[in-house]
Amino acid sequence: MSKNNFYIETYGCQMNLADSEVVAGVLNGKGYEASNDLNNADIILLNTCSIRENAEQRIYGRLGNLKKYKEKNPQTVIGILGCMAERLRKDLIEDKKMVDLVVGPDEYRRLPELIDAALHGEKGISVKLSRTETYDDIIPYREDGLSAWISVMRGCDKFCTFCVVPFTRGRERSRGLDSIVNEIKILSDRGFKEVTLLGQNVNSYNDNGNDFADLLAACAVVDRSFRIRFSTSHPQDLSDKLLYTIAEHNNLCNYIHLPVQSGSNRILELMNRTYTIEHYLDIIDKARKIIPGVSFSTDIIAGFPTETYEDHLATIDVMQKVRYDGAYMFKYSPREGTKAFKMEDDVTEDAKTKRLNEIIDLQQSISYELNQNLIGKEEIILVEGFSKKSDQFMAGRTDTNKVAIFPITESVKPGDYIKVKINRATSATLFSDYVGMVSDRNEKAQLTA
Ligand code: 5AD
Ligand code: SF4
Repeated sequence: MSKNNFYIETYGCQMNLADSEVVAGVLNGKGYEASNDLNNADIILLNTCSIRENAEQRIYGRLGNLKKYKEKNPQTVIGILGCMAERLRKDLIEDKKMVDLVVGPDEYRRLPELIDAALHGEKGISVKLSRTETYDDIIPYREDGLSAWISVMRGCDKFCTFCVVPFTRGRERSRGLDSIVNEIKILSDRGFKEVTLLGQNVNSYNDNGNDFADLLAACAVVDRSFRIRFSTSHPQDLSDKLLYTIAEHNNLCNYIHLPVQSGSNRILELMNRTYTIEHYLDIIDKARKIIPGVSFSTDIIAGFPTETYEDHLATIDVMQKVRYDGAYMFKYSPREGTKAFKMEDDVTEDAKTKRLNEIIDLQQSISYELNQNLIGKEEIILVEGFSKKSDQFMAGRTDTNKVAIFPITESVKPGDYIKVKINRATSATLFSDYVGMVSDRNEKAQLTA
């Protein structure tokens, strides 16, 4: 067995997936080799998430069953990366002695030396957060593919009262525009077809006066047939300029992930979200006027401290007004160190479950109805490969991130942009027929107009 194989397992959000590629980029340059096989790895790294309580419990569970690898090969180095590092380093390294390395999200450049030391039996902790680290110059390690992620900013300064991110990932900082544009060029040359620009709050991107709209415009012109997505937007920072920029460039997806969290102004204030629901709905209206065919997804928390059934109904009301294409829906869980942690977690588990289920059921029926409205319409999709459920079908995604499947067609291969006509739909999948190749992504405008 080679001494230098590393295996990374990633938990949590897309930012973590992007970070794992940065980590692999750092290690690859220093003589370590990426492995997809846990059994063939000397170094096992878990890139962790802290956002909700169950995310941390999952990691503890996983560490429990990784013990057997260490028993088989005591030389194996087990490391914790990412958001759990700062919060739980003492517990993980000193108290439970479960891991050899704990490395926070801003210290990945130090991984080669820390791993080297760990391979010689020294435990390592490195969890300092930085005000400047953006890994600008690190080329992330990616296998060939169609879709990639790029982190365009790190950290968050919003301090929503329920959220650990400002504590686990530190202050907001933006990566340089030129280095992002350059990475998109490299991806396009390698045959990638799509990128998602990531940040906890991409709308506050700022590189020497270039804002997020400037960044998107610069990315859009690199390769007109390259599809560009982005996530996540905070309602407070979403500018008109950004909406006009999305409308102007056909390869910027008409899709905005705009977390609302709650429909109740009282709860929004307790959450420190810094907008009212009226303001939020105004943004949605404006976006719909400026960007024809735009769709939205959101995040919702059920059962924040003091939430009454009336507050919950206000959330239901917003969902009915906006009619999101999709939603990530969570029960509130108190996170140590946050402001909300000091509030009494007074909504009972039963009430949280009931409210969450109502929210999920409503979203499912809205998704179903929105998808029914697409029957008979044409959509452009990026073909990704075979359908997961049947090898008679291929699958791709629309600009609004919906999965569409169509019968295998000889002339169509992964990476093609094609036009399909929707003939049937569930809440999760569009069933379609092949219509034709799209040679020019600029056709999108005519389809969605
Ligand atoms: N409890 C429940 N959901 C949370 N989120 C963040 N923190 C918490 C928490 N303490 C959700 C928010 C956020 C998404 C990424 O995770 O909805 O937008
Ligand atoms: Fe957390 Fe709020 Fe920042 Fe999102 S905007 S990462 S919810 S603090």
